[in-house]
Parts: sequence; C-alpha cells; structure tokens
Amino acid sequence: MEIKNYIEANRRSWNQVAARHHKGKEERKQLFKNPGHSIMDATITAKLQEYNLTGKRVAQLCCNDGTETLSLKNMGAAACTGFDISDYAIEEARKLAELSGIECEFVQTDVYEISEQYNATFDLVYISAGSLIWFPDLALFFKTVARLLKPGGMVLIYDIHPVVFMLDENDKEHPLEMKFSYFIDEPRVYNDGLDYINKETYEGETYYVFDPTISQIINSVLSNGLIMRSFDEYAHDISALYDHLQHQETKVPQSYILSAVKQA
Ligand SMILES: C[S@@+](CC[C@H](N)C(=O)[O-])C[C@H]1O[C@@H](n2cnc3c(N)ncnc32)[C@H](O)[C@@H]1O
Repeated sequence: MEIKNYIEANRRSWNQVAARHHKGKEERKQLFKNPGHSIMDATITAKLQEYNLTGKRVAQLCCNDGTETLSLKNMGAAACTGFDISDYAIEEARKLAELSGIECEFVQTDVYEISEQYNATFDLVYISAGSLIWFPDLALFFKTVARLLKPGGMVLIYDIHPVVFMLDENDKEHPLEMKFSYFIDEPRVYNDGLDYINKETYEGETYYVFDPTISQIINSVLSNGLIMRSFDEYAHDISALYDHLQHQETKVPQSYILSAVKQA
C-alpha cells in the first residue's frame, strides 16, 4: 500500500474517534479558562523549563486538540503552531484556543505535507505521546522536522517507549508477559476503533500503526543531520493504556525523552 493511502485511512480513523475523545476530555479542557494552565506532567515540564521557552517559536506535530500546544504557549513560548491531520481535532483546538483566549495557530495537514512557508521557522519542534507510530516512513518524518527547524533549533520527543507495545494492555493478570514482537515488518492493522481514552471499542475505520523500534527512531533523527543531545528513559506511563504497569515491582521502560539539534 502506498504511504498516502495509509495516511488517509488514519485521518479518517482519527476523525471518527475525535468526538468520543472530546467527550472524555471536556473537564480537562475547561481548565484552560484559568490563566497559565498547563497539562504537561512534571517530567516534561522540567525539561521545558531547562530549555527555557521564553521568546521561542514552537511547533507541535500531531497536536490533536491542541491542549499541549496551548500549554506550551502558557509556559512562555512567544508563538505556537500545532499541526495535525485530523480535521475534527484541529477544529476542536481552534475552538479551545478561542474559548480560553490563548493565541495559537492550528493547521490541518499531514506532517509529510507541511507547507514550505514553515521552513526554518521554529526554535523548537515538540512531539509527544502516541505521535511517531503513525508514520510509515520515519526518516521522511524527521526530514520534515529538520526543514521546519531554524539552524540551532531543537526537536524534543516525549513519547511512549516502544518496548511497552510488546505487552498486552488488556491482560491485567499477566501484565509483563511479552505477547507481541518488538520487530515488525508490516504495519499493525486495527478495526476496533481508537478510543484509548474512554476505552470503548466500536466497529471503526481501518487504521495502521508502524511501531518503530528505538534504533529506528534514533537513526531517523541522525540521518537528517540532527545531532542528539540527550536520551532518557522512564518507568512511568504516558499512554493511558499501561498505567497498571507502574505498580509492578519489575520496572519496564514506559516513556522516553529524546532531544536533538539542527546544526547551526
Ligand atoms: C495520540 S495523538 C497525539 C496526542 C498528543 N500527544 C496530545 O496529547 O495531544 C496522535 C495524533 O496524530 C495525528 N496524526 C496521525 N497521523 C498524522 C499525520 N500523518 N500527520 C499529522 N498528524 C497525524 C492524529 O490525528 C492524532 O491527533
């Protein structure tokens, strides 16, 4: 299947789930009426404070309904742009920005197709939980990241650790039993909906996930002239699927932060 067909199938699937997710996130969104509100957790907040957002122009790729993009603006960024392929999510992001009086730009687009008008525009490109698995060609994804960054700009990834996808999130009796291969040659194909927030299944549009390994992520970053600055792994969950693992004595890596910069 061609890349554009995977992307279009995933766009339809994300549009289909958006209304369900919106229902599950309504209360959290109302909090943006409070000035300076942020939904970032302590780990990424510390990283962003260390980086210092003041005066920075920031892009978020796969921003969904914009709650993290708005948080980045509230944390001191000079200007923020969120990009996402879901028409519905971008509509929700724009509504939330207006409701909360936070100035951010939201653009509906496939990451691969982000307009050249954004080339060399951003000091920081931020990518977070559940974003990288949607891309059939990860090197091409980071080629876009590199073109969006100003020279000296930084990409910060705070994503789910690929190792947890070897475990079955529904098997609470044997939560550490490895059921799925770390290395996959073909995309995983699903039809049971994408509602990881309310955890409801439904007959949905077919969608495709690509589950890159850690080395594939790192090599895709490096192959685009980005220089790695840090890589940290954490035992806490950011997926909303594997929260129960945190209480296990045997700790598995559940999330990571990777930073890299574009050569000045
Ligand atoms: C799990 S969500 C990311 C949520 C984000 N971490 C947050 O908390 O707001 C993944 C997002 O990737 C978007 N997405 C998937 N494929 C995409 C593509 N090719 N281009 C742009 N966005 C895409 C989906 O529409 C969805 O909003």
